[in-house]
Amino acid sequence: MKGQTAGGTVRSETGRRRALPAAVLALAALLAGCATAGPGAGPSPAPVGYPAIRFAVIADPHLFDVTTSSPGPAFDRAVDSDMKLYAESREILAQALADIAAERPDFLLVCGDLTHDGERSAHELAAAMLGRLDAAGVPVLVVPGNHDVLNPRAARFSGETAEPVAGVTPEDFAAIHADLGYREALERDPASLSYVAEPVPGLRVLALDACRYLGEPGSPRTDGRLPRATRAWAVRVLARARADGAATIVFLHHAVIPHFAGMERWLDAYLLDGHDAAARFLAGAGVHLAFTGHVHAQDIVRGTTAEGPVWDVETGSLVSWPNPWRLVEVGPGAAVRISSRRVTVTPSRGATFASHAELRLAEGLRDEALALLARRGVHGEPALAIARRVVVAFSAFFAGDEPGPVAPVDRSVLGPWSRLAEAAARQLLDAIGTDLEPADNDVSFTVD
Ligand SMILES: [Fe+2]
Ligand SMILES: [Fe+2]
Repeated sequence: MKGQTAGGTVRSETGRRRALPAAVLALAALLAGCATAGPGAGPSPAPVGYPAIRFAVIADPHLFDVTTSSPGPAFDRAVDSDMKLYAESREILAQALADIAAERPDFLLVCGDLTHDGERSAHELAAAMLGRLDAAGVPVLVVPGNHDVLNPRAARFSGETAEPVAGVTPEDFAAIHADLGYREALERDPASLSYVAEPVPGLRVLALDACRYLGEPGSPRTDGRLPRATRAWAVRVLARARADGAATIVFLHHAVIPHFAGMERWLDAYLLDGHDAAARFLAGAGVHLAFTGHVHAQDIVRGTTAEGPVWDVETGSLVSWPNPWRLVEVGPGAAVRISSRRVTVTPSRGATFASHAELRLAEGLRDEALALLARRGVHGEPALAIARRVVVAFSAFFAGDEPGPVAPVDRSVLGPWSRLAEAAARQLLDAIGTDLEPADNDVSFTVD
């Protein structure tokens, strides 16, 4: 098991605690350093035989119900200036769901962080929007993310102020999203919001809830772990699926396989605690496909365990560029084909939406990088030169299929102190720029 990492939060200018984006956490970890992992054990592998199915995946729609708030500085700061387009989340999700409906997939997976910060109104809006697709014949299955349940940051915004609003308990989450997995579940885990469903005959879908909101100090935390009782429940559920002759895939919020070299060091909280043991356990139980979110990046990685391979198919956030979703075809047999789509047009911005989203990501990354560098005494042209590399590298990281490490900063513009900062940043930028196999957006492979 790897060490626990405290949730990635920071106090903003207004005094509210807000989540740090993955990019910022990674940059901040550069100067801190942290520990790594160890493996676990699992049973023996078995051949995979998927029925022929086609399904869609979205992650981190981070819906915010703007009707709860009124325009003003607090709204602008909290939901209308971030690299995540919270204020536009409703129309982005609506566009994605319309595009998904047109594809008529067998079902849709939503890999957590349904809401901005767990606001009850956002959950109800998500349930209504996703419920319409479900009622139209595309079953929707959801699992919570770290932002969704018992989140003390749930708020509405008016003028200069942020006011707390109702959030949801685990019981509320299952009730509000009853039609999105919890009512149709074959079995639910009494210890978490995990469940197993069979949206298509012969394919079990295991929804794992690894989020830490159940009375933990500092809740909600960014990191995730599967409680012992949930692991024992999953063992029984997967054994039953095998006995029934059903293939199984899993979806959860946290990554099961590291998505770049050194992810344990820089983005530890985005990996499931005990991820090595979890991957071995899944592979040993015949589960070779995991669909995840949380990092907000498009990335697919093939993990190798003693019990067989596990592909972690991480989907980027709907509310940050490139605003992706995925179509996945599996079967017959062991064939997998993944293609990626994007929301590029919205009603309020038309065809300018994609460039707007890309600019907001770039501005957000630049500002966060400059703030981190300033705290370490790097200012002016050296800071801007390093920040430009951060923007290029992280934009590629979020889009997937990274072309390779970004060119280093011209050292002639750097002083001695900023050279140290640049060298430290370059370690991370080189790591995230070096894409691990396979391709991230459009790829075919065989689970063997
Ligand atoms: Fe998220
Ligand atoms: Fe998350």
